[in-house]
Amino acid sequence: MAERVWERMKDRDSKECRNCHDFKTMDPAKQKDRSVTKHEGAIEDGKTCIDCHKGIAHKPVHLKKDPAQAQPAAAPAAAAAPQAAASPAEAVATGAANVAKAGATAAASTATAAATAMSAASTAMTAGTGPAKATPKAEAAGATAPAAGGTVTALDWSKVPTRQIKVFYPGQAGLEWIMNKADHSSAADIVEKKRACAKCHEGDANEVGTAIVTGKPVGVSKTVMEPTPPPGKVGFIPVTFQTTHDGNKIYFRFEWVPPKNGDKKLDPKNEVKLTMMFDGGGTVEGSELNGCWGTCHVDLRTMKDAKDDKKTKYITGADLAGGKFMDLIQFRSGKGQAPVDGWVDSERHMDGGKSGLKAEGKKEGNKWVVVFERSLAGGGKGDHAITADKVYNFGFALHEDFTNARFHYVSLGYQFGLDKPNPSVKNYIDVQKQ
Ligand code: HEC
Ligand code: HEC
Ligand code: HEC
Repeated sequence: MAERVWERMKDRDSKECRNCHDFKTMDPAKQKDRSVTKHEGAIEDGKTCIDCHKGIAHKPVHLKKDPAQAQPAAAPAAAAAPQAAASPAEAVATGAANVAKAGATAAASTATAAATAMSAASTAMTAGTGPAKATPKAEAAGATAPAAGGTVTALDWSKVPTRQIKVFYPGQAGLEWIMNKADHSSAADIVEKKRACAKCHEGDANEVGTAIVTGKPVGVSKTVMEPTPPPGKVGFIPVTFQTTHDGNKIYFRFEWVPPKNGDKKLDPKNEVKLTMMFDGGGTVEGSELNGCWGTCHVDLRTMKDAKDDKKTKYITGADLAGGKFMDLIQFRSGKGQAPVDGWVDSERHMDGGKSGLKAEGKKEGNKWVVVFERSLAGGGKGDHAITADKVYNFGFALHEDFTNARFHYVSLGYQFGLDKPNPSVKNYIDVQKQ
């Protein structure tokens, strides 16, 4: 019966839905980024509402029909091999599983029943995703970490444009989960339409993080990404990001208000670690869309499929000589801790770079400020040269409140270029010379 209804709805271009809402009357400014992007794609591909919004008025029987979606846990997750063709129809998880009422057999085609189901669906969709407030910690005393490896050049940061970036709690959402269509219906958009994570999630990264950190099931497969939710931990942190260069060196500045995050000290030495990874200007496939997600896999230590508690970040098919690696720089707040100038290829290297890296971090009032300084040229092993002719792909992670491993906050993928405005690309940042 469900199949017959879907077929009829498809034939009539989901007329029942369009009685009330239509692509033409949708106001993108009022929708979530992910909805806008999906609807853009739907118009391009001539898709209709029911192609994606099954299970809205009735039980989500489409999940039973498609074994890949019914048993997400068993879905194979080959590294970097997107299973774009895993399921013919895209299913949006609406959480409206229980809205089908007895006797409402032909409800899909009646407006009243659809509207009832809809209010249930939208309640389920919004439940529990209220933004978490970042509660500032008690003011801590002065500077905690002078620059190891030399003092960072003083700059007038008030002249440098700022960019707000929400870093969020990813839990165990490794690359293989993200790129598996039965878990994350948009895996196909990433591969086929080259949609960047930030295009759909920059606006809702706070909601994604809040759902994950509290152990809510997420994605179309309703996977719990954090099996042991850390009590009191917030889902996201708003970071003010700035970057500039002076022809020789590039500078990155991060500023945020530390949230209250519970009392567990997993890394007692370092209250804060801030790590940035960037590629060599299109040298790591996929990083133009996902930043450094290509290094984050489901078999790393503390992740779902971990077999080896030493295994850290890697890139599938890495090639150090060929530039297929992520340069890695890290600030650590612990006393006397030098900044890390490393890289990630087939494994993670925490030293060896010779890029003249300096890092400085301090608490200013209730804020943390971390600044990196690095030569544009790079020069050592695992150092990418940064030149004006390329666009670099990057992401960063913040270990807040003495935490380690995957218990960090991460950014979506961003890009930067030197003195090259590109306002049409949402996740792009122009690094202007000072
Ligand atoms: C009788 C009019 C009506 C019909 C028919 C209808 N809708 Fe809606 N829909 C609404 C209203 C009203 C809302 C709630 C809007 C709001 O809260 O802003 C809504 C909400 C939604 C939402 C959730 C929005 C959210 O809050 O996240 C989705 C998805 C949706 N509709 C899709 C559909 C689809 C697909 C169909 C066809 C199967 C359909 N609707 C049929 C009126 C209708
Ligand atoms: C290509 C798949 C696709 C098609 C086709 C599609 N949608 Fe959506 N729609 C989505 C996704 C994905 C979301 C976001 C769901 C979420 O929040 O997880 C969404 C969200 C929505 C929302 C909530 C918007 C918001 O952000 O508040 C409404 C309403 C909606 N769709 C209605 C429709 C209607 C009506 C049609 C047909 C005219 C349609 N959609 C066609 C994938 C699709
Ligand atoms: C075309 C829009 C789109 C793109 C691009 C996209 N996503 Fe999603 N993402 C969604 C939608 C819609 C959902 C809701 C579940 C579903 O439909 O799979 C989602 C769900 C998620 C979730 C689970 C949390 C939740 O709210 O359900 C995570 C984590 C996630 N995406 C991360 C990413 C990452 C990382 C990338 C880039 C590699 C990415 N997404 C790219 C649309 C997108």
